[in-house]
Amino acid sequence: MGPDRTPADAPDLGVQLGPLKLRNPVMVASGTFGYGQEYADFAPAERLGALVVKGISLQPRTGNPPPRLVETAAGMINAIGLENVGVEAFIATKLPRLAALEVPVVVNIFGHTTDEYAALAARLDGVPGIAAIEINISCPNVKQGGLQFGSDPAMAAAVVRAVRAATRLPIITKLTPNVTRIGDLAAAVEQAGTDLVSCINTVTAMAVDVFSRRPKLANVVGGLSGPAIKPIALRCVHEVAAAVSCPVIGIGGIMSAVDALEFLLVGARAVQVGTANFTNPAVTLEIIDGIERFMRHQGLTTLEDFIGGLDTSCRFPFADQ
Ligand SMILES: Cc1cc2nc3c(=O)[nH]c(=O)nc-3n(C[C@H](O)[C@H](O)[C@H](O)COP(=O)(O)O)c2cc1C
Repeated sequence: MGPDRTPADAPDLGVQLGPLKLRNPVMVASGTFGYGQEYADFAPAERLGALVVKGISLQPRTGNPPPRLVETAAGMINAIGLENVGVEAFIATKLPRLAALEVPVVVNIFGHTTDEYAALAARLDGVPGIAAIEINISCPNVKQGGLQFGSDPAMAAAVVRAVRAATRLPIITKLTPNVTRIGDLAAAVEQAGTDLVSCINTVTAMAVDVFSRRPKLANVVGGLSGPAIKPIALRCVHEVAAAVSCPVIGIGGIMSAVDALEFLLVGARAVQVGTANFTNPAVTLEIIDGIERFMRHQGLTTLEDFIGGLDTSCRFPFADQ
């Protein structure tokens, strides 16, 4: 610390996210940070705003056959197939170590029926060490011909209502971008009782190999993530923030502090970093430090003066042409 600085000068990166208070707005996204241990040497969990674990289902799942990951221009497509240890093994073997860390732990859940989501929420209710549940609704509803829960406001709302009735934990509902009007989905899940909304999950995509004349993923299609989706994610956060009054968490292609700040400006109160952890396992710390440097540079003592501050009144000449 320089001679002209006192601890009182330090900007406050803390954010209030509905019922959750985070030390900073930088979380790690589900499925990209394992259960925390894998990254302990690079990005100590204690520095993060919060940690979201890999999606958990009632039963263990082995996921899809390989190949399950493919790199694309400015991103990657994954079709992991939601491989996970199942809720009982998660509680018994993964959660105790996570709960010992000084970081809010968010448990991401998914199911194939509304009852499965409710059963997971009920099982996690009251288990020590869980700060919140994040509901992944980008999953096929087996009782509705495989239509994704997240693609229909009524189905998405039914899941949230069932989870709300089953747990006292704060609920984050994670929206899919693979819809026409994401704001309608956001409004429906808020009405159904979610405490927060996070967006976006991956964008449905595929990659092909002309030599083998085959898809590059065994599952044929997968989810695109990384810098390629950031502009889509920003647009989604912009629409969602206008549609709800609950806090919004921005996700999608965040690689740097400036990327994260863009989401905050558009109206997110926190962000999740996903794919960037694969290319730089210390990226979250760099983003946190970068946000702090930006706040000093801008003379911001708190992020409250920045969040949602996007000025959309200024239009470029010839914008309509
Ligand atoms: C390998 C991989 C696994 C993922 N697993 C999950 C998951 O289990 N549950 C979930 O809600 N999202 C999952 N996601 C989506 C991410 O949490 C995130 O929403 C998405 O990747 C966009 O953010 P990014 O561009 O920063 O990666 C996964 C993403 C990747 C790349």
